[in-house]
Amino acid sequence: MAWRDWIRTVEIEPSLYAADFAYLGEQVDVLLRTGARIFHFDVGDGHFVEPITIGPIVSQAIAPIFRAKGGILDVHLMVDNPEHHFEMFRKAGADHVTFHHEVVPNPAPLVARARELGLCVGIAFNPETEPEEVAATAGDVDLVLCMGVHPGYSGQAFMPETTDRVRRLRELLPDEIHIQVDGGVGMENVRELREAGADLFVAGSSLFAQEDQVAAYRELSAAVQ
Ligand code: DX5
Ligand code: ZN
Repeated sequence: MAWRDWIRTVEIEPSLYAADFAYLGEQVDVLLRTGARIFHFDVGDGHFVEPITIGPIVSQAIAPIFRAKGGILDVHLMVDNPEHHFEMFRKAGADHVTFHHEVVPNPAPLVARARELGLCVGIAFNPETEPEEVAATAGDVDLVLCMGVHPGYSGQAFMPETTDRVRRLRELLPDEIHIQVDGGVGMENVRELREAGADLFVAGSSLFAQEDQVAAYRELSAAVQ
């Protein structure tokens, strides 16, 4: 199924990196029942980003929980040589992969490879990269991910200039390419990001660090409808 058929007008995507891994399956299940469908999965290799985060063993373990309830796994590859991991993640339950512009300046061959494997595909870019540069090479990806923080860790403060970067990107990209924002997204900024043209909002600590995750998910969703 194509990414375009998956998404509603806008989506809040829980970022599993911020979850409590002792209760990962339960937390995913609760969010699925609350209405979340697309789950963001952050892979860090200790090179492109400082930390080693989570990998295919974890996605494989939770894939049956998604599958049972129509959930979708969106894998954010914060790694060098992302193409080495496409196939493994496909087998481990991924529906979508996003790789970084900073390590793949010419994305066309990787986009083709992802599609060959039946994956939807996106390009992410860091706060130092100009949106214009990414828009010029994006081609026919399903989404472009604008980082709201330097990638690597959950719980960092949102960089306020992100909103303007989203606005510039929205002007340049064709309507069918979604704009995803990741890092520091929460109630303080989600509305302005929506107005600037983003439609996929990754929420880590603004969801998982809250005592009532169901209420936090609902509040974020309501804010962008
Ligand atoms: C950070 C990751 C994010 C992270 C977001 O580099 O790419 O997906 O989990 O977490 P918050 O929402 O807490 O910034
Ligand atoms: Zn991410």
